[in-house]
Amino acid sequence: MCGIVGYIGDKKAAPILIKGLEKLEYRGYDSAGIAVIENNEIVTLKDKGRVKNLLKIDGMESLNSGIGIAHTRWATHGKPSAINSHPHSDKDKCFAVVHNGIIENYKELKEKLKNEGYTFISETDTEVIPNLINYYYLKEKKEDSKALLRAIRNACMDLMGSFAIEVISKEKPNEMIVIRKDSPLIIGKGENENYIASDIPAILPYTRNIYFLDNYEFAYIYKDRVDFYNKNLEPIKKETKEIKWDSSDAEKDGFPHFMLKEIYEQPRAVRETIGTTLDNDKIEIEGLELEREYLKTINKIYIVACGTAMYAGLTARKTIEHLCNIPVEVEVASEFRYNNPLIDEKTLAIYISQSGETADTIAALKLAKSKGAKTIAVANVIGSSITREADYSVYTHAGPEIAVASTKAYTSQITMLTIMAMHFAEILGTSSKNEIEELKKCLLSMPEKIEETLKVAERIKEFAKKIYNEKDVFFLGRGIDYPVCLEGSLKLKEITYIHSEGYASGELKHGPIALIDNGITVVSVITDKDLVEKSLSNVQEVITRGAKILLITNQNIEKKGFEELIKIPETNKFLSPILAIIPLQLLSYNIAVEKKLDVDKPRNLAKSVTVE
Ligand code: AGP
Ligand code: GLU
Repeated sequence: MCGIVGYIGDKKAAPILIKGLEKLEYRGYDSAGIAVIENNEIVTLKDKGRVKNLLKIDGMESLNSGIGIAHTRWATHGKPSAINSHPHSDKDKCFAVVHNGIIENYKELKEKLKNEGYTFISETDTEVIPNLINYYYLKEKKEDSKALLRAIRNACMDLMGSFAIEVISKEKPNEMIVIRKDSPLIIGKGENENYIASDIPAILPYTRNIYFLDNYEFAYIYKDRVDFYNKNLEPIKKETKEIKWDSSDAEKDGFPHFMLKEIYEQPRAVRETIGTTLDNDKIEIEGLELEREYLKTINKIYIVACGTAMYAGLTARKTIEHLCNIPVEVEVASEFRYNNPLIDEKTLAIYISQSGETADTIAALKLAKSKGAKTIAVANVIGSSITREADYSVYTHAGPEIAVASTKAYTSQITMLTIMAMHFAEILGTSSKNEIEELKKCLLSMPEKIEETLKVAERIKEFAKKIYNEKDVFFLGRGIDYPVCLEGSLKLKEITYIHSEGYASGELKHGPIALIDNGITVVSVITDKDLVEKSLSNVQEVITRGAKILLITNQNIEKKGFEELIKIPETNKFLSPILAIIPLQLLSYNIAVEKKLDVDKPRNLAKSVTVE
């Protein structure tokens, strides 16, 4: 994810672009840059760091151009650095491009272009775009008024993945072309000027009349006009829509809170995390090249993390042990460090962190490294501290997570860890081809299944209204559902301040059942068909003692005796946590809203905990 801004008109572009980027920093903030056309040459100023650093770059103040493009980056390919920042240019410095999204086939395209004599200076996927445009433009007749448009269109047809792209060219210094596929892009119509952005807040101060682009629609933008074309470059008509939101609503895409927005972003987060890993015969994970000879020597895997990331690890333990036949230990980072863990070069240690900055997790990684273990970081922020320490870094592609309560990072972590488990199993030959194939199929259908699961939102909201005043809530689950209950319970504590506990269903009778009292709410998660009967008996035990039950299940269970039953889609057992957590995220969210609490910034908590 990232933020894109563009301007074309009579005003100075640079200040408008920078102001726009500041409004979009919630979409990404690891580097920023702008490109304008001054005296028929492209001038690009960019650097690592936040948007405000742009103001300090020499030459920024003296830019007078009325046309420019800008980007605030959330790196997916290539660490945050000045060279990897956008805008990117082709080898002849004829075009400048900013891009939001991921070009999944960039390696093949890069190879193809290299064979044609093209050179590359960054590690990004994006840099293939201006070079491809250059490649196609050279085949066009320059006097043809559609030459540039056709070159950009031909380049875009070669791209796989997601992209919102703005292009300026010194060949056409008063024109800009933009296009999108699966990443957002809008155009704001002004008086003798036009604005472009990933999202509405960047342009709300200037205009409320917005064109929304659909996939594969091209906009050819002049200062006083916008022409639209479809995939075949036939002209199409588009009307503006008037936006009535205020600007803080707009940053959240119309959602009242970042947390809710991020819950709804999960289909995309999971889809982008899967990316191209499953495209070929064998699973490929960028950044992870482990030899079979090495993996065969591993006799233990440690998964270490904090909070939600640790709960993703507990789920992954079950998947890895099942598929790879290697014992897995999961530990919270702050404990791991002081437990004198038994680690040697036969241990593989995996560290999970959304931010990549959690002090305990980083220290735990350093410890394992010092004892000779190989370390893998699974992080969401590219170039974050943990990825600089680990031997290997693997990324979830959830995009920036702003709400303190983690949602889309968690489901993306389970996704990536499942892919890693399948990858190890494939290398080691510890699972049947059929089992891996079936898991792959289910994984690919997860984005649609998450969409389907999100439809329970209204019913969960109604249930939240009934229980928001409660003092205690229990979450019960067995097997694969147990870590989901721990995560569901953490979400509730974090943002609603209701005391809650997650328990393994069978453990309840060994003590905690003493707490079950008339009217208490118990959330039960049942997704493993082999454990339905046993789990239902445990639920019965608490019903007998007066508990009200919210049952989350993918099984055909009759509603009798339960306060509410929420049905979620069926999938492979090891993936069901990705779906089962969604009603629990929504439950906490709706209770916090009902209690009028600060959902995105709960008391006493920080998004990343950089102290020990
Ligand atoms: C999640 O909702 C919490 N805010 C917290 O437990 C978090 O998961 C934990 O602090 C770990 O953060 P990290 O993934 O950035 O390392
Ligand atoms: N994939 C591009 C990069 O890593 C764009 C990322 C973004 O959308 O910010 O530079």
